[in-house]
Amino acid sequence: MVVDTVGWLLERTEVARPRLVDLGCGTGSLTVRLARAFPHADVVGVDADPRLLGLAEGAVSGTTARLLARDLTTPGWADEAGPPAPWDAAVSSTALHWLTPDELAALYCTLAGRLRPGGILVDADNRAPTADPAPLGLARQLRARRADRAGRHGHEDWAGWWQTILSAQELAPSPRPAPRSRNAPSPSPTI
Ligand SMILES: C[S@@+](CC[C@H](N)C(=O)[O-])C[C@H]1O[C@@H](n2cnc3c(N)ncnc32)[C@H](O)[C@@H]1O
Repeated sequence: MVVDTVGWLLERTEVARPRLVDLGCGTGSLTVRLARAFPHADVVGVDADPRLLGLAEGAVSGTTARLLARDLTTPGWADEAGPPAPWDAAVSSTALHWLTPDELAALYCTLAGRLRPGGILVDADNRAPTADPAPLGLARQLRARRADRAGRHGHEDWAGWWQTILSAQELAPSPRPAPRSRNAPSPSPTI
């Protein structure tokens, strides 16, 4: 969905070399997908963990993506993410929940100064559900795109998945055997 959203943006972008930054890239799974999907883009993955970045190096090898070892809560990390041209998209996947609310607010301020007008932040992370119709509409559109690509429509939703699990006989709890008393005689050996 992150790649789809960036794709949606770049389809509407005239920039010759869009700039995409993956925040808390870890092993680079999203970084490499961006680099492969948009080979004309300048993709940078940023993470504070050198071991995960070591794995990310392997993941992005053969692409033009770059990696940057920096803590997103330290001032100045964005200056090292490349030339000071505005960014088209900052993305992240299951990383920003590690930041405190104050650190996250500071990060948003940094991004507000880096992203070009119309640029986007796409954060795929665990957040409280929203009732706001705009993100809900976007989520619906992205789900439809993913279903189109997979050629699968009408897949079950979360409630339907649970219903199937709960009604499956083979997954029903098996009756517990009666507990054996500690003093019960052992079964006699058969000859
Ligand atoms: C669950 S992993 C997700 C990695 C990757 N985005 C993915 O989807 O595979 C969370 C990542 O956030 C990084 N992270 C957490 N806090 C960070 C910080 N303050 N600065 C940079 N990276 C951070 C961790 O090092 C880790 O790689």
